[in-house]
Amino acid sequence: MKNNPVVPYILILAFGIGLIFFMSVQGADNKKEIAAEHEGGETTEVDDKSALVQACIGCHGGDLSGAVGPDLRGLDAAHIQDVLKNGIEGTPMQPNMKNEAEAKAIAEYISTLEK
Ligand code: HEC
Repeated sequence: MKNNPVVPYILILAFGIGLIFFMSVQGADNKKEIAAEHEGGETTEVDDKSALVQACIGCHGGDLSGAVGPDLRGLDAAHIQDVLKNGIEGTPMQPNMKNEAEAKAIAEYISTLEK
């Protein structure tokens, strides 16, 4: 191997392979970080108030502006809470659709929505 003109090329090749390996490992790490950030973002979304009304949008529309059920935006929080607790007889609004804490949170959230 002494004075073999190929040796520098082999060294460069080995270095290159090492570099590629290093970068791909780093890349995988970054990917995990990005994925973690993404998951974090989604968790916040689930914690978001709008997640509370997932059970309502099927009938009241994606922005609660009304579909099968009426527009809920801007209704009085106490009224919404009352409807959730007692229901509206003869309609799909059944009593105790949500427990009290949820009903309160939902009512407060919906009452802040603007038409
Ligand atoms: C299966 C369909 C359906 C679902 C699910 C549903 N609603 Fe309703 N909701 C209705 C209908 C229909 C009415 C109209 C009842 C009537 O005729 O008075 C209504 C009425 C209401 C009213 C009374 C509106 C007013 O102007 O007095 C409130 C408040 C309400 N819903 C809140 C909710 C909330 C909050 C949720 C989610 C937790 C929800 N609803 C889920 C169908 C639904």
